[in-house]
Amino acid sequence: MSSFLMSVYFNNMTKDELTNFTLTMKDSGDTIYFDNLDHYLVDKHSTGGVGDKVTVVLGPILSAVGMATTKLSGKGLGHTGGTIDKFESIRNFKFSTTKEELVEVASKTGVGLMGYSDNIVPLDKKIYALRDVTATVDSIPLIASSIMSKKLAIQSDLIILDVKVGDGAFMKTIEDARELSRRMVEIGNSVGRKTIAVLTNMEEPLGYNIGNANEIVEGIEALKGNWSDDLKEVVYEIVYLALKHKGEVKTYEEAAKKIDEVIANGRALELLRQFIELSGGDGEVVNNYELLPTPKSVLEVFSEEEGFVTKIKAEEIGKAAMVIGAGRATKEDEVDHAVGIELKKKVGDKVEKGEIIAEIYFNDEKNVQSSKAMVIDAYVIGQEKIENIKNILEVIE
Ligand code: URA
Repeated sequence: MSSFLMSVYFNNMTKDELTNFTLTMKDSGDTIYFDNLDHYLVDKHSTGGVGDKVTVVLGPILSAVGMATTKLSGKGLGHTGGTIDKFESIRNFKFSTTKEELVEVASKTGVGLMGYSDNIVPLDKKIYALRDVTATVDSIPLIASSIMSKKLAIQSDLIILDVKVGDGAFMKTIEDARELSRRMVEIGNSVGRKTIAVLTNMEEPLGYNIGNANEIVEGIEALKGNWSDDLKEVVYEIVYLALKHKGEVKTYEEAAKKIDEVIANGRALELLRQFIELSGGDGEVVNNYELLPTPKSVLEVFSEEEGFVTKIKAEEIGKAAMVIGAGRATKEDEVDHAVGIELKKKVGDKVEKGEIIAEIYFNDEKNVQSSKAMVIDAYVIGQEKIENIKNILEVIE
């Protein structure tokens, strides 16, 4: 298998090879197909970012506009967060662990999220461990088959891949992101599963909060209409693509109107509340953030320069959040749901010397000074204001 991985690394794979390899991976374990869910099922997958709370916001919106989400979610590792950890910051919240639970929650709320089990594509774990020791982790066909085998293991009508591009992402360049997207779309479409990739900007964290409980709050606020521009752009684009492929809208404007409506009338927020309740949590959290774990202390971080924020190195911010406990350095680490980082300035903002650029919410003093140094290092201050930041870079289908 090591020789095979190395030969793929150097020689790539043809379309048929890649498709067959992905199907073999998928068939190495359980698959989840529903016979009693008659919704249009959308599986949105992110290749992993910093501050990426898209799933928290997207599920309820897709449901409110007449679709449903069925997806397997993961835990955070390294500088990237995971949807499971974010929702588990709500006391007693439990993800569905069986297909029956998933179907029950999804049929009532339109939001069906389940954690990966060891029985979903077990071959991926073995192969990933070998990729690690043969330096073949960053082979594009191997990444594409790893991701798509897990997507194909659960039923959906449409897979939307949010391929993050930039500093905090697996794919650092648009060329690599495009190639990965093209290969994943090729796999999906060649087995009859409609697949679209949206390349989105990860040259700064998404939104203002990086952590767990604080990302849930930001997600709830978005459903109340209080969005950061970048999060809004990404969520609206994905919902538009889903509505377009379902055949419900032709233009972005039509989709945006539908989304605006379910935000304004509170329908999307209500579905999130119901999803939390059915998952064992207290749905009242959508109105009362004190029900979430709170950190003991806050450390303000001040700018050492004057100018405009030109970049916020997302990976560095992800690590700054990880060292205070918001993420895991190794799979075995525990996450502290209460802690995290709030950005006070985003790319394009003017900043004065001595002005607050971020706040670090922490419980344990231990690594907070190194976290602060990382935040300062992550902020790149220049003299030119960056205008017209594009968060949707490309759509590949
Ligand atoms: N995500 C995966 O699931 N697999 C990879 O190989 C890389 C990112």
